[in-house]
Amino acid sequence: MIDENRRNTIKIFLGATAALGAGMLATPLVGSLVAERAGYIQPQRTGAIPIEVCKSPDNCPEEYAVPLEELKNGPVFKLLKVNTMAIPAVFGIVRATDGKEYPVAYVSICTHFGCPLNVSGGKYLTGFHCPCHGSSFIVCNNPDGCPDKKAAFLEMYVSSGPAVRSLRAVKVEVKNGKVYPLVAYV
Ligand code: FES
Repeated sequence: MIDENRRNTIKIFLGATAALGAGMLATPLVGSLVAERAGYIQPQRTGAIPIEVCKSPDNCPEEYAVPLEELKNGPVFKLLKVNTMAIPAVFGIVRATDGKEYPVAYVSICTHFGCPLNVSGGKYLTGFHCPCHGSSFIVCNNPDGCPDKKAAFLEMYVSSGPAVRSLRAVKVEVKNGKVYPLVAYV
């Protein structure tokens, strides 16, 4: 059972986050990249609840598919609808310290009080900033983890508060040049 407050938070900020996504789609093309595979993001240390969005790429609505070619332009916003829930998600490419590139997605809602987040970075997804109370989130792009922050690889952890919990993630899979959302952690 999904916590009712959490469900309401997602609904409340739906509209503003959709506007954010429209802006991100206008990100200019800045170069080319080769995404090697989807990043596996561990369920965050936040008590997150897994919500199945698609059983597999073959069972996923085409409107949720994000072509890798599109991600070359920068992060892409999608609104994922599951039953009565609407989950705002940002897809992007994280460039790791070893040079490899990973398609990823995160739920773009602040873990402090649920404001819609702005994306930081350009071609690569590097972090998010919250316009409400100033929290910032940064991705751990070291495959060995980020020990100083005790963050896992690809975890979008808090770099400055007042938020204290990492962003929720969306597990993705790449098939035939497209990135599909499988499980959202909310
Ligand atoms: S809601 Fe994001 S910092 Fe408060």
